[in-house]
Amino acid sequence: MVASEATPFCKTGGLADVLGALPPALAAMGDDVAVVLPRYRGVKLAGARLVLEGLPLWIGPGRYTAGIYEVVRDGVSYFLVECPTFFDRDGIYGYSGGEHWDNHSRFAALCHAAIGVARKLFRPDIFHCHDWQAGLLPVYLKHFLHSDHTFQKTRTVFTIHNMGYQGRYGRDQLFWLGLPDTMFRPDLLEFHGEINLLKGGILFSDAITTVSPTYAKEIQTVEHGFGLDGLLRARGASLTGILNGVDYKTWSPETDPHIAAPFTSENLQGKRECKLDLLRYAGLPTDRPEVPLIGIVSRMAAQKGFDLIAAIAADLVHWDIRMTVLGSGESVYEDVFRGLAAACPEKFSISNNYDDALAHKIEAGADMFLMPSRYEPCGLNQMYSLRYGTVPIVHATGGLDDTIDANTGFKFSPYSPEAMLGAMRDALNMYWKEPQRWKALMVEGMGRDHSWGSSAAAYRRLYKSIAG
Ligand code: ADP
Ligand code: GLC
Repeated sequence: MVASEATPFCKTGGLADVLGALPPALAAMGDDVAVVLPRYRGVKLAGARLVLEGLPLWIGPGRYTAGIYEVVRDGVSYFLVECPTFFDRDGIYGYSGGEHWDNHSRFAALCHAAIGVARKLFRPDIFHCHDWQAGLLPVYLKHFLHSDHTFQKTRTVFTIHNMGYQGRYGRDQLFWLGLPDTMFRPDLLEFHGEINLLKGGILFSDAITTVSPTYAKEIQTVEHGFGLDGLLRARGASLTGILNGVDYKTWSPETDPHIAAPFTSENLQGKRECKLDLLRYAGLPTDRPEVPLIGIVSRMAAQKGFDLIAAIAADLVHWDIRMTVLGSGESVYEDVFRGLAAACPEKFSISNNYDDALAHKIEAGADMFLMPSRYEPCGLNQMYSLRYGTVPIVHATGGLDDTIDANTGFKFSPYSPEAMLGAMRDALNMYWKEPQRWKALMVEGMGRDHSWGSSAAAYRRLYKSIAG
């Protein structure tokens, strides 16, 4: 597998969770799996072995060299690409000033390094590439290596985790990626006057997947295709949706080291302690612990639906609730919650940072988890919430629609402030007025099995169906 993030090495979102859990799930089923990812600044090399030195990487006219470190974790080799020119800097994709200007070259380096790893260290039957950062690998394979006998039988799977991020660059950058200008055609890499690396992955892979069945259908529509819906319809026969799973070793209230007290669906006493602990941690009053606590953990991005919260902010301040939010990203969305916290500090609290321990505390301590995403390819937090008896309130889209139903949570549609308000009111009414039904909802969610087993089995069936 080739990707830009994997827990526990580096993470900005759910992609990392997938790369930290799917490969071990496949390994447990008997497959040989390796993951190639960048060694960004700060990625610890404790326990790593330098397995390859001086791997040459030709990125257009430039020649670079990389070292490859191997960490074996749960039966999977994680190969970390050390190439300081590209990866020894602040931020995985960028920092406060914005995206790194040369991300296309950085991830071209990752793809070249993965091909080098495949030649010298780990010969795969399948390259499984994730998101646009790995989209050049199928392009290089078809373009440069189609007659290289090492890769004659190698097949490619390309998984789309989010259509909203495509890796688009100017035409002149083709040269810097080592690709000929003849690839600048609408039926190749050209897209609205630019090159598009996600399109490259979709076009040149043997199979395409995305991370939920509903999102697989949605991305073939104008509304959710981000301009690539036509291509996805054309490749529809090779496109499937496979739902992500949950790594219950990391996300379970019985064993979670980050939370105040363990709990189970049979004994929910610990959840009350977790709620008090979270209220204290968030600086919210603990005198009326029965008041419903709504949690949010999210990247602050347009995708995540916070414009709906902005639209109902004037109502929210009058409700008898508490809300704690963890998330960072675009300041316009952070400001929505900063505004609420400034207006009613006794009801709303916000942490604008990245804090893994707090993410666990919120999953465990909140009563409800709000995820109003405009679109959501899969979404992991709603599945984590289920496990912790924290009832999800979600917009019925993508993976949220596939994982939440009336027995486990509240769904709204259409995407509107009124519909979200309605679902929140329904949830609060049941919480206050029908405690037995509420508890049944919690317990049902806690018992749902979203472990990786069946998803990993679906990927294996796909790998077998295309194997050379
Ligand atoms: P996405 O990948 O679109 O961000 P997912 O729901 O698939 O959405 O995954 C998000 C992951 O990132 C979850 O593991 C969540 O706990 C984590 N996460 C998001 N924001 C933060 C944050 N500010 N601090 C800690 N973890 C976060
Ligand atoms: C993306 C999507 C999210 C999904 C994650 C892992 O970041 O936004 O819905 O769960 O990838 O596949």
